[in-house]
Amino acid sequence: MKLSKTVLEKLFQKAGQTMQNSYSPYSKFKVGAAVLTKNGHIYGGTNIENASYGVTLCAERNAIFAAVCNGEREFEALVIVFQQKDLGPLSTPCGACRQVMTEFCKPDMPIYTADLSTGKPQRIVKKKLKDYMPYPFSPDALIKKPVKKK
Ligand code: THU
Repeated sequence: MKLSKTVLEKLFQKAGQTMQNSYSPYSKFKVGAAVLTKNGHIYGGTNIENASYGVTLCAERNAIFAAVCNGEREFEALVIVFQQKDLGPLSTPCGACRQVMTEFCKPDMPIYTADLSTGKPQRIVKKKLKDYMPYPFSPDALIKKPVKKK
């Protein structure tokens, strides 16, 4: 599916809006994400931290899980925005989120990342899931496929 400019803008908008709700009192690092489902719906997510640090959940997983909670299983695109002012190179999705993406998203699915510290997406990077996960542990490893008869 070709992603139109309008839909991409909507994804950036949703990721940015959801980032406003970031609960990140410990890292003060706000992240927003938005996924586009095969059905054309958009779900947002943001990072939610916890005093017990390990319980923190990233923006990307919150977005994907929100969609899955609403019955979605297939995804067309993901946008991630970081409030990255004065910080180094643009962030990339963490390993745990890459694994969750691998569960639901095709290797060719586009992933856009950008710095949103000025309110406008900057330093936009477009990659595919397979760029972030070249050797994935995917559902294929566990889900039996029917054996082809000769
Ligand atoms: N974080 C995300 O939300 N997504 C990522 O891909 C990287 C990290 C969040 C988790 C934590 O709240 C903060 O950023 C600092 O690690």
